Amino acid sequence: MPLRAPRRLLLLQHLLLLDFASAIITDVAGSPLEHPATFSSTASEFNISLTLQRYLYSGPNGLQQYTRAFNGELAGPTIRLKPGDTLHLTLTNSLESELFDTSTLHNQIKDFDVTNVHTHDLHIHGNAPGDSIFTEVHPGESYTYTYNIPSNHQGGTFWYHPHHHGSTAIQAGGGAAGMIIVEDDPTLLPATIAQLPELILVMAHLDMPTLRNIALTYETNCRNAGGTAAQCDENTWSDGPVSGTQINVVLINGMYQPVLQMAANRWYRWRMVFAAVNAVLEPSIPGCEVKLLAKDGVYLSSAPRDITAGYMVPGNRADWIVRCPAGTHELSSADIGGGKGGGGVAFTQLLATVEATDQGDAECSLPTFSIKRPCFLVDLRNAAVQQTVTFDLGPAPQINGVTFESKTTYAASIPMMILWMSPFSQPTPPHGDLYNPLCRVMVWFITLRLFIMSRLW
Ligand SMILES: *[C@@H]1O[C@H](CO)[C@@H](O)[C@H](O)[C@H]1NC(C)=O
Repeated sequence: MPLRAPRRLLLLQHLLLLDFASAIITDVAGSPLEHPATFSSTASEFNISLTLQRYLYSGPNGLQQYTRAFNGELAGPTIRLKPGDTLHLTLTNSLESELFDTSTLHNQIKDFDVTNVHTHDLHIHGNAPGDSIFTEVHPGESYTYTYNIPSNHQGGTFWYHPHHHGSTAIQAGGGAAGMIIVEDDPTLLPATIAQLPELILVMAHLDMPTLRNIALTYETNCRNAGGTAAQCDENTWSDGPVSGTQINVVLINGMYQPVLQMAANRWYRWRMVFAAVNAVLEPSIPGCEVKLLAKDGVYLSSAPRDITAGYMVPGNRADWIVRCPAGTHELSSADIGGGKGGGGVAFTQLLATVEATDQGDAECSLPTFSIKRPCFLVDLRNAAVQQTVTFDLGPAPQINGVTFESKTTYAASIPMMILWMSPFSQPTPPHGDLYNPLCRVMVWFITLRLFIMSRLW
């Protein structure tokens, strides 16, 4: 593995090569919402590339902050797939190598230059070259994933992010995330629903002070493992901003408080993902009508349903159908006590402004429908419980008294199927995949622990 070039040289490289020019306006609030770049399925087998790289984010009030992001944007490209597709995703790691190898640390913040991609909630195989979170892509390396999307995959909203144990929070929490859309089978949805115009909202909580603390913890861990201060310099978050003041905000598609332009009285489908490490979002948009269509890529059994606010923990997705009367409306998150999991205080922020302009639309009503679910999404809430699993979430998290020491430690003792049949779906829903329970339970468990303990691996 090549070692990182000396710092001064790197800065020079950055000046010469420039960081990828940003297509989306990120430094001015109030700009019209732009969508991330899109990779669309062109054939039943298609190839795309993601590159994780150091990226200079330009925020409001002159803020400039280095982070790690895919393809030079704070919201990675949207990937649109169809059931039955085979996707080859080549991930290239363009991060700098650590000067001191922290890979021997265990269950600690480490390996900031190692990455991979996890397709959160897709019902695909968990073994390499599929969605294995044990795949490691080191600096200078490329790796090609092959995802076979089952032909009975339900259409829905999913997302992807790095999920290497030790660097997930700094990479995904720093904005390395994007949306995955599995296209609907149009014959399964009422035409009025299938034809709704869409807004893509990758809502990323960019908590810069916390990310900086994670980076400082990395440096401490690295020094404790024997590295010198110079070798352990994290060189992205630990240095703080290049200019301006760090912020703790939720961005939409990398944009701070964008303007969502909609035709008044017209229904829109909003696809939302909450990419975050340890926050809760309770979005609402007073004055507009909001209906919940799907949660976490799964249509409600009777959809859509009227709601007044959403409740999203890290990784949640929500598909809303929204209609606004002419005028200006505010999409905000506030702590209004939603959710059932006791998930914590919701983040308070104006997320976006909606400008609805009259374009002559007459109001139309929407049908309520029930979609036939594939077998892997059957409702198990009333299934008989065969066995119970005990979770101990801290300070050393355990499942059935077993601590995560390696990928094999959990395998022996845990009745995996039971986990997936459990109604234990708050605050973080299980990932819907039974192919490789070991991978899945780890992902799920780590996410759960992240959320509950706010302990950032
Ligand atoms: C797509 O990726 C696969 C797997 O890496 C490879 O075999 C194939 O040649 C690629 N196709 C194109 C058109 O690049």
